[in-house]
Amino acid sequence: MEVFRIHGGGPLEGVVEVSGAKNAALPIFAATLLTDQPCRIDNVPDLSDLRFMVEILESMGASVDQDEAGSWNVQANKLNPVAPYELVRKMRASICLMGPLVGRCKQAEISLPGGCVIGPRPIDLHLRGLRKMGCAIDIEGGYLRVDGKHLQGTRLFLGGRHGSTVTGTANMLMAAVLADGETIIDSAACEPEIVDLCQMLVKMGAQIDGIGSHELHIRGVDKLGGCTHSVLPDRIEAGTYIIGTAMLGGNVRIQGARDRHLNALLDKLDDAGVHAIIESSDVIHVRRNSEQLRPVDIITLPFPGFPTDLQAQMCGLMALTPGLSILTERVYPHRFMHVPELQRMGADISMEGASAIVKGVDHLSGAPVMASDLRASAALILAGIAARDETWVQRIYHLDRGYENFDAKLRGLGANVERLPGSELPNFLQVES
Ligand code: EPZ
Repeated sequence: MEVFRIHGGGPLEGVVEVSGAKNAALPIFAATLLTDQPCRIDNVPDLSDLRFMVEILESMGASVDQDEAGSWNVQANKLNPVAPYELVRKMRASICLMGPLVGRCKQAEISLPGGCVIGPRPIDLHLRGLRKMGCAIDIEGGYLRVDGKHLQGTRLFLGGRHGSTVTGTANMLMAAVLADGETIIDSAACEPEIVDLCQMLVKMGAQIDGIGSHELHIRGVDKLGGCTHSVLPDRIEAGTYIIGTAMLGGNVRIQGARDRHLNALLDKLDDAGVHAIIESSDVIHVRRNSEQLRPVDIITLPFPGFPTDLQAQMCGLMALTPGLSILTERVYPHRFMHVPELQRMGADISMEGASAIVKGVDHLSGAPVMASDLRASAALILAGIAARDETWVQRIYHLDRGYENFDAKLRGLGANVERLPGSELPNFLQVES
């Protein structure tokens, strides 16, 4: 397994290009199952999660290839509606295959997704929605068996205790586009990734109104055609570089960063004393010299609220901000795996339920740390660059699930981050990896 060796020291200088959004590309790949026609998908990030998704699509009978220009061509003209356990268990997001299988094949067999480090990942809202659309669902041997031969449009409510469900909305959308009649999805997620999926479905011939709102109206059609679609830029990757520049100081242009997808972050950074410049609809310029940062309070919420996927990164920034900041998770109350690792680097953070109370310290110190969920991994790497001396980060496979070439992009901005084989770990760390 590979590791990162980081020598502390900012600032970050230069231009970084954001890749396609993982959380849009996954449901977009799943949506190619809705038709027997060819689909071409562009701007797909090179991530292990997407490689898993390609493996699953192929195992179900789809032909998938990447051409020399980097476009992915998918055609599911024959389709076995069974998603194999040994592949699905590697990536819980494969649950977003359930909707298109039910829509296209009126049946689905898919392994129940595993848990993960950020907390319980229930799918009760997905199952409740499909049952309301007339599906019969059995759970047997860790598999979900869905019988959707009576799939019927209806009114659904997708709001749960923690707000709307993103992949739940994707699943209901992809079942509804080929269902009989009209489906109204109330409390639908309106994340930009869902908007991107809707735009692709419309290109395929789906009839969807209310795109971008919390209420979607879908009129089912008999068949969908192929399409060409380019995945939108990853707002979480963009936000990670914006926070990194705020944390390390410097002067960075983030290309692909869409301010309309990042307003909650930009608003909080403004309060903290970091004033990002919106250079265009797709470029954000961040400059920070020695301005004193101010502490902020953050509560994570579904879009357009502050994204849970940027909470760990903000925790790192606030760890170096004088004063007390409180970061509260309303989406994943347990999503604080980064806290004990940041504490190993000298951060002063105490936990109160679903809130991290962060007292800024003068500096962080390098230490051997363990990556866990992919956003926590990014936070630890930024902290390592901000810290004095050396930081080793193990289990960086978590990072590679969601950040394309993170180390190379950081080196391009002047950071000293090396990707090394695990054998390079100092002896005293070998046993831990
Ligand atoms: C998506 O996960 C993203 N993943 C997550 O990104 C992201 O953190 C999350 O949305 C929230 O924005 C993908 O899109 C592949 P949810 P998803 O269903 O769809 C509860 C990353 O780092 N809930 O919107 O699985 C759930 O427990 C990943 O890129 C139910 O209670 O999240 C959570 O508390 C991590 N019942 C909240 O809703 C359900 O049936 C939001 O979950 C479904 C969800």
